[in-house]
Amino acid sequence: MLTKAPRGTRDILPGEVERWLLLEDIARNLCCLYNYREIRTPIFEHTELFQRSVGEDTDIVAKEMYSFKDRSDRSLTLRPENTASVVRAYLENKLFGLPQPVKLYYIGPMFRYDRPQAGRYRQFHQFGVEAFGSLAPALDAEIISLAYEFYRRLGLNNIVLELNSIGCENCRPRYRDLLKNFLETRKEKLCRDCRNRFINNPLRVLDCKEAGCRSLLTGIPKIVTSLCPECAAHFSSLKEELTNMDIPYKINPFLVRGLDYYTKTVFEFTGESLGAQNSLGGGGRYDGLVELCGGQPTPGIGFALGIERILLACKGEKFKINPSLQVYVAVIDREADKIAGRLVKELRGMGISCDRDYLDRSLKAQLKQAGRLNAGLVVILGGREMQEGKGIIRQMDSGKQETYPLAGMAEYIWKTREQEDSTK
Ligand code: HAM
Repeated sequence: MLTKAPRGTRDILPGEVERWLLLEDIARNLCCLYNYREIRTPIFEHTELFQRSVGEDTDIVAKEMYSFKDRSDRSLTLRPENTASVVRAYLENKLFGLPQPVKLYYIGPMFRYDRPQAGRYRQFHQFGVEAFGSLAPALDAEIISLAYEFYRRLGLNNIVLELNSIGCENCRPRYRDLLKNFLETRKEKLCRDCRNRFINNPLRVLDCKEAGCRSLLTGIPKIVTSLCPECAAHFSSLKEELTNMDIPYKINPFLVRGLDYYTKTVFEFTGESLGAQNSLGGGGRYDGLVELCGGQPTPGIGFALGIERILLACKGEKFKINPSLQVYVAVIDREADKIAGRLVKELRGMGISCDRDYLDRSLKAQLKQAGRLNAGLVVILGGREMQEGKGIIRQMDSGKQETYPLAGMAEYIWKTREQEDSTK
């Protein structure tokens, strides 16, 4: 127990964490380009927030939440997703007073109690965005294009965008009736979950992964044919916007998503070769959610992308990084340690990453360590050169080396790097 992390959780170690940092950098840069500002919400919220917004009948609320009572007997839940929390924060902090639309993004851990498997964890991480205050289909297209560009920058060029519209409170009840009529004669053959869904939320049957249920859906009426004029116009403008932006999509009439707050647009990004857990992200509009949580009617739209799954999908792509160190300071003898300490401090102060030996290693072992750390330069201090007030600077890739006076060495290294960077 003491040396094993809880099932479904994992450590992200040096070597892997660099891939996370790069991914997060790409996400932050893109959000800055698209004018989305970061929001950080608590890891836990009142349980009721998720029950009301995600929906009591969803798998997330019914089966997957980490809920607990605190010492004051309040029911709290580790966030299984972040849209509900962002809506809560939007209302609590009166972000509706800001110029609209309010465009936010987040990166952080989520928690769902599900059977762990490749690409499915109990603690996982999402990069998500949420935008409030506009009904324009162009905003749906912007959000989708942000996700699309994010995958592209990671080298994931084979992502499929699946798209659907699930209508609004005006047109959905009519479709729900059509669906119920269609399923009525087949309901005995549905899986146990779907028999409950048939009663509580028949739309969710469309999303069932069971082969038996899927085979019963042949010939089922499609929701897009039941949309009210407003939802139909929204959907067709969105498709035009996507075509205009050269973003390919596939209409999936079975896509309803596993959370209850969606209205109109829903979408999902799937990747090849990821097996069962092939959803790399998803989102949609939630024009009724702010009101449901106690605010004025305010439209909203967003997505969340699963970071672990994306990194799994990136394995074969060119998105690889080699962590490296700019300078390693090695010493020939321990008398040089003090000078090494000063030089390392000076270089770091100039923004140059560097490291030195703390294990009393031989010079040979220090050079080996510099190689392991992928250092660009090694400075060697000590011996005859040090008595002459100099040190050796060796370029690790070419093996070229020179001696240089210790006074001014940090500045010399800094200037040389600047010149190299400007010619790259
Ligand atoms: P979601 O579809 O539940 O949507 O999750 C989004 C993504 O999180 C999934 O597509 C998947 O990549 C990742 N994910 C979900 N569960 C797991 C898991 N157990 N292990 C690893 N990755 C997982 C939402 O969470 C909505 N809040 C998205 C949204 C934002 N809609 C509007 N705004």
